[in-house]
Amino acid sequence: MPTTRDHSKLFQELATEYTKHSPRSAALNERAQQTMIDGGSHTLRLIKPFPPRLVRAQGAYIHDADGHSILDFWQGHYTNILGHNPKVITDALARAFESGWGLQTGFTDELQIQVAELICKQTQSERVRFTTSGALATMNAIMLARAFTGRDLVLKVGGGWHGGQPWGLVGVNFAKPSEPWRVEGQGLPSSVANEVIVTRYNRPDILRAHFEQYGNRLACFIVEPFMGAGGFMPATREYLRTARELCDHYGVVLIFDEVISGFRFCAGTLGVLYGVQPDLTTLAKIIGGGMPVAAVAGRAAILQLCGRAGGNRVRFAGGTYSAHPASMLAAKTLLTYLVEHENEIYPRLAQLGAQMRQAIEDAFLAEGIFVRCTGHPNDALGGSSFAVPQFPYDEKQSLDNPDDVNNPSLCDVELRDHIFQLALLLEDVHVVHGGGAVSTAHTEQDIARLGEAARRVAQRIKKYL
Ligand SMILES: Cc1ncc(COP(=O)(O)O)c(C=O)c1O
Repeated sequence: MPTTRDHSKLFQELATEYTKHSPRSAALNERAQQTMIDGGSHTLRLIKPFPPRLVRAQGAYIHDADGHSILDFWQGHYTNILGHNPKVITDALARAFESGWGLQTGFTDELQIQVAELICKQTQSERVRFTTSGALATMNAIMLARAFTGRDLVLKVGGGWHGGQPWGLVGVNFAKPSEPWRVEGQGLPSSVANEVIVTRYNRPDILRAHFEQYGNRLACFIVEPFMGAGGFMPATREYLRTARELCDHYGVVLIFDEVISGFRFCAGTLGVLYGVQPDLTTLAKIIGGGMPVAAVAGRAAILQLCGRAGGNRVRFAGGTYSAHPASMLAAKTLLTYLVEHENEIYPRLAQLGAQMRQAIEDAFLAEGIFVRCTGHPNDALGGSSFAVPQFPYDEKQSLDNPDDVNNPSLCDVELRDHIFQLALLLEDVHVVHGGGAVSTAHTEQDIARLGEAARRVAQRIKKYL
């Protein structure tokens, strides 16, 4: 049984074909590299050998400069729960811009209040403050926790991505259980290496041991109730309950990072669905309706540290573009829509998500390639719109922890992350890390198309495995 595979020849073959398939995007990529590092501004978007350059996006599809209509399961970093450019939002924005409303004013307005009310109600939070990115939300939530507790240490989960901010940049990429977690990137304050403790997902025993060792020095435990970058997997009920109990016992701020999961499984948070209320919740992606909105929501006693009553001790100022009028309009329009249509939207996404996982598994298994998807819900979530194919070398391999699916000696990570993505692009289907999520714009026909494309990919690559 292999423990790693060399895919360089297959990748080269796919890349050559893809360059012929997308000559305009190839040329635009050459040009982009003259002014932008690697030709763009976000690593994940810069698919190797080059990304399709888009001219339009609508519903489940993106359209590129080479005339391809590409079935998209990334949906704007998972922001677009209604698909690309849903009319309900673009109409509201178009009307607003026509009526003299939309660009930054530098003032507050009623829309902001309405969005704050919606978020507080749906997430069972007392207060909220807006900013513009998930990374800023998690960074400010951690600063609030450190100020509130007067402690320095941050506990996070190995494999958890909380955005490019100092405390988030430790223990993101896979490390063997026997190896220390790394600080990932240079230029960070040297203190970060000693301020972040990394624990394992879904392991209450290890979590307990970490609290026993560091509990009295911990400011916060930041955790995703549904891990995104770590392989799309839910926390067990026991794990989150243990986290709550330990945080209460040791006086630690519990932060749920719901940048991916917020409004993805219901018109609210997983904290609400699990019945485990964190002290702070970070939100972004979906809540902005495709516009840059992020937020920290939670207990007034903690959030007030960034306000007058708390002596403005935490400099969580939101930023120039925080609560931008057009963004707030998109947020209000989307959140209202999700609340009003909750009973149709989430069961539908759950159904399509299950079909997506099945379609991918059927396609590979039919060609004799063993695959299992992560992205499954558990009893707390009810359903899930996510699917990521994992290619474990051992069919009995457990897949409920980022350490399982991101360990290249247990799973074929290269096949999932790069080969499958590029081979599917040749079929005009777009996935990231091999998978993605359905939106309400996807249909059964789209899932069937994905299944057929995945089957052709499996036929093509099986001789290389
Ligand atoms: C769970 C989680 N937290 C934080 C972030 C950072 O968000 P942003 O990219 O908006 O800074 C991400 C981004 O993918 C995320 O998935």
